[in-house]
Amino acid sequence: MTATSRFTLTRALPANATASALASDVTQGLTRFPKTLPPKWFYDARGSELFEQITALPVYYPTRGESWILQDSAPEIARLTGARTLVELGSGSSYKTRLLLDALGTPLTYVPVDVSESALAEAGHALLADHPGVTVHALVADFQHELPLPPCPEPKIIAFLGGTIGNLLPAERARFLASLRALLGPDDALLLGTDLVKDPATLVAAYDDPEGVTAAFNKNVLHVLNRELGADFDPDDFAHVAAWDSEREWIEMRLRARRALGAKLPGVDLSVDFQAGEELRTEVSAKFRRHGVRTELAAAGLRLHRWWTDPEHRFAVTLAVPAPVAP
Ligand code: SAH
Ligand code: AVI
Repeated sequence: MTATSRFTLTRALPANATASALASDVTQGLTRFPKTLPPKWFYDARGSELFEQITALPVYYPTRGESWILQDSAPEIARLTGARTLVELGSGSSYKTRLLLDALGTPLTYVPVDVSESALAEAGHALLADHPGVTVHALVADFQHELPLPPCPEPKIIAFLGGTIGNLLPAERARFLASLRALLGPDDALLLGTDLVKDPATLVAAYDDPEGVTAAFNKNVLHVLNRELGADFDPDDFAHVAAWDSEREWIEMRLRARRALGAKLPGVDLSVDFQAGEELRTEVSAKFRRHGVRTELAAAGLRLHRWWTDPEHRFAVTLAVPAPVAP
């Protein structure tokens, strides 16, 4: 079999779904106070590239922490699950995934799911070149909506790595975990990466690097609005802000208007005003504790089976399994 015949890419988002979801998120988010946008709109081709650069920054410890854990625990994950299919949500470059693929052995079906088609195509082809026994069914889809998974060999792992679950708000997380539970058969498992609560200085530094890569990533959403909706934002009019919310235990990324300004968004027939200093929230990145992860999983009908951290206890990977239903 050639590498090409082992790769399929399915667009599970109906034509125009992305455009109408963006229009509705922007209309709702920019007409409320405080203004907000969901973080999924960062990830056009440029945003995906900037995120990859973030993962290599000295201050951005999550990727290194999670890679260490996966390197260490992949053989145990393979043994505990015996998985023949690996579904990965928000797979991005699939870089860390290789550690799992190597341990799971072949033949193996890999189903990367992402909103970024460019990330899926690039990652899928790169991966096939050095994993001859792997078949890739890439899915362009929003993991917060219903996921039409292709029929695949069982059992499967659904992996959600990188701490991306922290980019969902608590109510979204609860709905999302319940929807994942519904996709799991009795022998399947969920592999979840979560960034952990730690000292605020380390956390804020990870989201405000001196190189300005995270600032560029944050402002990329304005480039997306300019391109997709014909908006006239000047990203230089906004400052990048990363703030720790100690009550909700999450980092907030915001864009703060450097002066009073107005912007037009003809694609959604909208004009918006910003006061000087007004902030638009572009992302939350929640940080977790073991007890909280266990509780959120249990609420979704999942049982925390194994919990691994890196040596500095900065990041955790959890293996969760369907909880027995009470009689
Ligand atoms: N898992 C990788 C990438 C994390 S970046 C890692 O750990 O390094 C987050 C990824 O999730 C991006 O590739 C982004 O395009 C994707 N993403 C964000 N929101 C999404 C959504 N709602 N549905 C599908 N993919 C999403
Ligand atoms: C993808 N996600 C887990 C990243 C995070 O850390 O919340 C996105 C990111 N935002 C700023 N830097 C990285």
